Amino acid sequence: MRRQVWRQAGLASLPIPREIGHVLVVSFPTAMPASATGSMLECLDPSERERWNRFQAPRVKGEFLVGKAMARRILGSALGLRAGDVRFTHNAKGKPELADGAYAFNLSHSHGWALFALTPSGRIGVDIERVRPVTDLMDLARRYFTPAEVEAIGIADSAAQLELFYRVWTRKEAFIKAHGLGVAYGLDRVEVSTDQEVKPHFARLGEGENPLTWSLEHLEPAPGYVGALACDVGLADLMLVHCVGWMD
Ligand SMILES: CC(C)(COP(=O)(O)OP(=O)(O)OC[C@H]1O[C@@H](n2cnc3c(N)ncnc32)[C@H](O)[C@@H]1OP(=O)(O)O)[C@@H](O)C(=O)NCCC(=O)NCCS
Repeated sequence: MRRQVWRQAGLASLPIPREIGHVLVVSFPTAMPASATGSMLECLDPSERERWNRFQAPRVKGEFLVGKAMARRILGSALGLRAGDVRFTHNAKGKPELADGAYAFNLSHSHGWALFALTPSGRIGVDIERVRPVTDLMDLARRYFTPAEVEAIGIADSAAQLELFYRVWTRKEAFIKAHGLGVAYGLDRVEVSTDQEVKPHFARLGEGENPLTWSLEHLEPAPGYVGALACDVGLADLMLVHCVGWMD
């Protein structure tokens, strides 16, 4: 596995991918002080504010708001726009994309942390999951994973099984999200490496996709979380940033 070098930065000092030609991955916590709600809501457009209003659970509400505001702020700084002026379109499965197509990006959040990835070219998808207990783990694996993946999880010792399950899950989902599909596409149509030591790779992809043209990266965005990045451009210049002072 490639060594990951996360560095800490505030929003104001994030590197802009177009200028230095890399994929930027930003991780950030989604917990926020109540006093920040107003300024974050100002970043959203009316339909996003309406969606935020409809969420009931405080965690889901907070995660949505921080994720959207952060995505808009990063994209705004890359495009030279105010966060609120960034325009999105959505594909048939709900994937937000930039209306002017200048960058491909993707966002994921799970139980208090989020991942955002941005690239000037190609398709990109990210997924983050907090590693939390799964009841009937093997049943779920058999339902969603390929026989080779199920076997790898089945023979792992019990302490490693849970992390392996999430590693496989996030890798598949990152690919599906890069395409702007939904999980209904079928997680078992994508086969991923399960080995911890070997650089993550796709072993098999759905029709019309060559695994060799896709890059896959295992991400460790925060203790207790696993993540994955899939994109169809080379990942030689991957820049990983923890943005814990996201309000700066
Ligand atoms: C996309 C999907 C796999 C993500 O699932 P998840 O693990 O619960 O969510 P994540 O936190 O990883 O990602 C959510 C973010 O991905 C982005 N996203 C939404 N739909 C997406 C899609 N189809 N592909 C890629 N990214 C998508 C959004 O930025 C979203 O953030 P938001 O909820 O704050 O708007 C899942 O929601 C799905 O299967 N969606 C398809 C639903 C569908 O078919 N809808 C059709 C009618 S719109």
